[in-house]
Amino acid sequence: MEAAIKSHPPAAPLSATRSGPLKGRVGPPGDKSVSHRSLILGLLCVGETTIEGLLEGEDVLRTAQACRQLGARVTRHGEGSWSVFGAGLGSLLQPVETLDFGNAGTGSRLMMGVVGGHPITARFDGDASLRKRPMRRILEPLALQGARVLEEAEGGRCPIVLQGASEPYPIEYKTPVASAQIKSAVLLAGLNSPGRTVVIENEASRDHTEKMLLHFGATLTSEPYGEHGRKITLEGRPDLRASHVRVPADPSSAAFPLVAALIVPDSEIVIEGVMTNPLRSGLLTTLEEMGASISLENRRDDGGEEVADIRVKATGPLRGVDVPAARAPSMIDEYPILAIAAAFAQGETRMRGLSELRVKESDRLAAIAAGLEANGVDCSIDGDDLIVRGSVGAVTGGGFVETHLDHRIAMSFLVMGLASEREVTVDDEAMIATSFPAFRVLMEGLGASFA
Ligand code: S3P
Repeated sequence: MEAAIKSHPPAAPLSATRSGPLKGRVGPPGDKSVSHRSLILGLLCVGETTIEGLLEGEDVLRTAQACRQLGARVTRHGEGSWSVFGAGLGSLLQPVETLDFGNAGTGSRLMMGVVGGHPITARFDGDASLRKRPMRRILEPLALQGARVLEEAEGGRCPIVLQGASEPYPIEYKTPVASAQIKSAVLLAGLNSPGRTVVIENEASRDHTEKMLLHFGATLTSEPYGEHGRKITLEGRPDLRASHVRVPADPSSAAFPLVAALIVPDSEIVIEGVMTNPLRSGLLTTLEEMGASISLENRRDDGGEEVADIRVKATGPLRGVDVPAARAPSMIDEYPILAIAAAFAQGETRMRGLSELRVKESDRLAAIAAGLEANGVDCSIDGDDLIVRGSVGAVTGGGFVETHLDHRIAMSFLVMGLASEREVTVDDEAMIATSFPAFRVLMEGLGASFA
């Protein structure tokens, strides 16, 4: 019954070839952000938290394993159906082994927040991609809360040994970049503080932690701050209640069939049950500005999140647009696939203010530009902006794309291959399993061809 974390065999290249119209209805997997948080909040409650629709990608399975190491009983009952018997806030176990997060930036950073607020010491590590990612952005606020870094690799990177605070200080912290991971780590550490923790962000980032903390019984307020920001205030030591979580479909995974259906001529598909939280919907806004035919049907509230079925139809080439930097937090994971849409569009698309893309699972700014060039697309990087000059539906393809252990680079360029003249090959499909294990099967079900 257990969903296993696979060890990775040698690289497995995969090609996508020009496909006929995509048709049908699909349900993408559960949202990755909500999945990590449901396990972590389950760990912090006493009693049984039940989860429906959990993403069983490798990143989330790593978080489940870390929850076990910290004292929770985590059980899989069937596809997407899990329960967590938590250790409870303030009562986590000292883990014996390293917490190995594989490729998972979110899991590792949120769990650093949890450990940072408890009187335990844990070693955090992951794969070659995670070991390159900056962790000082998490460790610095945690130090203000009283945690100590006992060991770290150069530049504040994993492997990291973190000693949590026995009594986290209540702090007010302004995040230096719009990052839900930083905000969440500070709030999760603040849960075990005897006082009030305040996080201020100039640009609002995804608000799943806040929503889910409220759902689990925490006392928290979120108010506007400046033009685009938020100020979140959390009361420490709440009586968290084990709860039920329904995980909606991940808009960041839905983005792949969505863009595929826009660039493969004569396609029409429906993507069911997708979370439409406004702080995750920048891609929809951008594609609509580009002239895409997208309609949200059956809009509803599901488990505290806005959800809809998304109907998308290819109606001819999209138009290039200027994507403002202020939109980046609401579509931060969607730039690789937006760049593919832009490559097939008419005219130039400028995506502004993408510095954060340099520190994702790979340097996505460089990886996108290299992949586009390998497939004959005219593009350039100007400071932190990416400029793609579209070819009105006629992308040559034929390229070999280096994915740098990055699932979203892999899926984006495979989508490109479904509509380009020649096939597109990615160097390794393995990382797709971190967030979207059924990607290939789901896309084939719509008529996509891979070789
Ligand atoms: C996530 C936040 C984002 C995003 C990541 C998931 C989260 O990272 O890129 O895939 O669940 O909090 P940042 O907060 O660092 O922008």
